[in-house]
Amino acid sequence: MNLIGEHRLSLGVCYYPEHWQEDEWEKDLQRMLENGIRTVRIAEFAWNRIEPEEGVFDYSFFDRFLDVAEKAGMQVIFCTPTATPPAWLTKKYPEVLNATMEGVVYQHGFRRHYNYNSPKYQELSRRIVGRIAAHYASRPCIVGWQIDNEFNCEVAEFYSDCDVAAFREFLKKKYGTLDALNKAWGTVFWNQTYTAWDEVDVPRATPTGRVNPHRKLDFYRFISDSACRFAKIQSDILRRYVKKGDFITTNGIFGNLDSHRMTEESLDFMMYDSYPNFSYCHGLYHKEDPTKDRNWSKHLSEVRSISPLFGIMEQQSGANGSMEMMAPVPRPGQMTLWTMQSIAHGADFVSYFRWRTATMGTEMYWHGILDYSGRDNRRLAEVKEISEKLDCMKGVAGSRYEAKVAVLRDYDNSWNGQADVWQRKLDETSIWGLFQACQYTHTPYDYVYIDHCGKKELDPYQVVFYPHGAILTKERAEILRHYVEQGGTLVLGCRTAFKDIHGICVTDPLPGLLRELAGVDIPEYTVVAPDTGVVKAKWGDTELDTMLFNDQLTAVDGAEVAAEYTDGYYRGAGALVCNHAGEGSVYYYGSVFTADVAQIFLEKLGAAEPYAKMIEAPEEVEVAVRGCLFVLNYSGEEKVITLHQKLRNVYTGKEETGAQTLSGYETRVYES
Ligand code: GAL
Repeated sequence: MNLIGEHRLSLGVCYYPEHWQEDEWEKDLQRMLENGIRTVRIAEFAWNRIEPEEGVFDYSFFDRFLDVAEKAGMQVIFCTPTATPPAWLTKKYPEVLNATMEGVVYQHGFRRHYNYNSPKYQELSRRIVGRIAAHYASRPCIVGWQIDNEFNCEVAEFYSDCDVAAFREFLKKKYGTLDALNKAWGTVFWNQTYTAWDEVDVPRATPTGRVNPHRKLDFYRFISDSACRFAKIQSDILRRYVKKGDFITTNGIFGNLDSHRMTEESLDFMMYDSYPNFSYCHGLYHKEDPTKDRNWSKHLSEVRSISPLFGIMEQQSGANGSMEMMAPVPRPGQMTLWTMQSIAHGADFVSYFRWRTATMGTEMYWHGILDYSGRDNRRLAEVKEISEKLDCMKGVAGSRYEAKVAVLRDYDNSWNGQADVWQRKLDETSIWGLFQACQYTHTPYDYVYIDHCGKKELDPYQVVFYPHGAILTKERAEILRHYVEQGGTLVLGCRTAFKDIHGICVTDPLPGLLRELAGVDIPEYTVVAPDTGVVKAKWGDTELDTMLFNDQLTAVDGAEVAAEYTDGYYRGAGALVCNHAGEGSVYYYGSVFTADVAQIFLEKLGAAEPYAKMIEAPEEVEVAVRGCLFVLNYSGEEKVITLHQKLRNVYTGKEETGAQTLSGYETRVYES
């Protein structure tokens, strides 16, 4: 059974009944169904349609829409509308609004301008969610619920008065006393010691903009805690009303938010919003990076770490654009490519954003499947073809993505990296390098969040990378020890385990809690100065570029130096140390995992190309196994793959073997 209660992969679309004439609803839904779309998501920005004035509730608008949906046989995901409070609400209760760091209060006119901690907003949200759920939850066409819309999108920092008060409460609960807080934040440095709770504030403007890093780390934790609590307020109410079998979810993954915790506490699974042509709008990828839309496979792996099976609530189907942003429409084949990318990585349900493009408002350039006129077009025809392909893909819904390599992450280090350029630079480089190396060597991998994993969760992986776990706790060190001792291969990068949970540097010899497991001592380390050139190291006959940062390693307690630096004043110092513990091994590498270095590790450790016996593919093509074998050509040009065994092409039902030419953006799915 798939996530939305069906024994199949299925398609949906985001629909805004309030944007169109009522007499168009039925025609729209009929056309969706004719083109293979079986579910619509509605109401996430429509608070006013249900509570046009404070305390006055009128359910008739969505009653009429749900009647039409039921008559047509369309399934519905209903949303709580808290991402866009009505004008009457923010006018009367300005304390519900968020503010900038400087205290400038955001005003009505966009979205996500509220804060999570206002008691008034919580009260009014509880009421609207309760009313909506009580009124609509029993409708047979409803299959699930979305809470709010994209928590922490657009703005992921909160500075309102309500947040200041809640931050103090959060800290009181966490530390109990000001002494403990002062210690955790190292406030003795630069005379920051607090002597009363009302001196403690959210981070504010300072000379240079820099703020005590330990305070900042707790601020990010607080924001995440606030969003999680706000989501739980809503899900607790929804749970009281939703029909048996209907799910609760939310959409998107954004900054300063522990989406794992939110999912564990409040959701049945996570849904993601996938806009691969964002790669044209943002500095989301390295300039020279050729992966562009393929980079979304990295994001989808993040989603999978939260929910092994997930949904896509918004899959790009038109040009992304707002008044400030322009990007191209999906080229012929790319909607199919991106849909299969999502499915290959774990999605059972893919819903496009949106049915028809809005003719007004901030997002009138953010295109949906149809343009303004709503006439049939190439993209709608592609949706129909996709739905026909999904009908042939038996055995994928409900199945798991296969990976033998894992990359460990955790929120403490990610958030620490936001305020710490040393860590951020190293993390970005290695996360990026590992992604590229895995993609180009056709080596599927999972992200695993070590702060949300038990001892056994790493057991299935042959190789686990934990690139730069600067902050490390005893519990996490134990998870790593267990993994290695039962036979795993753990690969660590520079600057591991030198901070405690507050981000304060430890005074033990480095790498702190992992010194014994890794068999490493680090007497010295340095940033690689730009005028040093590329420092290199030798691992057997293989040369490694040791970029950005070099830990100079000594092997201790029977470990061995596997690679030495060949340049710089520390030529001859260890660059890679290998230790054995129990049944497994640990490699401590003193630098970062660029794509080239990561590829060397994958190859030397025997983890690259796990499906080489089945398929050979060029770099531009992604290979993934989830129920079936997915082959995704991200390039606009023909690419040749070679099948080393006879495989059944699921789309055509025909058996194929040997060289196969894929046209630009073509996907194939084989029974594996
Ligand atoms: C998402 C959001 C949608 C719409 C879309 C296009 O971030 O959930 O409401 O804004 O992007 O911008």
